[in-house]
Amino acid sequence: MPRAKGFISFEGIEGSGKSTQVKLLAEYLRSKGHDVLETAEPGGTWIGNKIRELLLEPLNHMDPMAELLLYYSDRAQHVREVIYPALLRNTIVITDRFTDSTAAYQGHARGIDLSIIDTLNELVVPDMKPYLTFLLDLDVEAGLIRNRNARKEDRFELETIAFHNRVRQGFHQIAKEEPERVKVVNASQSKEEVTREIIRIIEEVWR
Ligand code: TMP
Repeated sequence: MPRAKGFISFEGIEGSGKSTQVKLLAEYLRSKGHDVLETAEPGGTWIGNKIRELLLEPLNHMDPMAELLLYYSDRAQHVREVIYPALLRNTIVITDRFTDSTAAYQGHARGIDLSIIDTLNELVVPDMKPYLTFLLDLDVEAGLIRNRNARKEDRFELETIAFHNRVRQGFHQIAKEEPERVKVVNASQSKEEVTREIIRIIEEVWR
């Protein structure tokens, strides 16, 4: 399948406001008459939600390679069951996280060689790259505070500030390498300002 213009991902550290912005962008696009599917990783399917529980349970001491492969099990199911069929129907798909999260968390932050992640991408999701990715960028401590206020506490929220800073730097590195696809949005602005910027970018890119 050629790269679908309607495949959009949101990326960012914990607490960067991705899920809110996914919803707001979906509402906007629907108001313009588009069919839109909102989805997320890990999760997005019944099997994916089971995998999500394993991945995020704070008491699990998970081997980094086991963790990596679980994200790809989730992704294989998600792409085949949800994303690919929707794109074939010409539905716009907005996913809260995709392969850039794996490069940032398991690659840049955990230290797994990025060439292993590239190989998994070729095996599991060949030709499935988002057309446009919004990287909601926020200071790590501000993001973690937002999440604590929302009482979120999973295995990743318990990681060190240094870990989350490596995640953030990893996302910046990806944005630097692929500026056409990955658009960095300052997530410390108000919710409304962030949405306005996202809509401006999407209209420019699709024009
Ligand atoms: P969420 O809080 O955005 O739902 O994501 C759950 C956690 O999973 C989050 O801490 C980031 C992490 N994650 C990875 O480490 N690698 C991945 O490939 C994905 C999709 C998420």
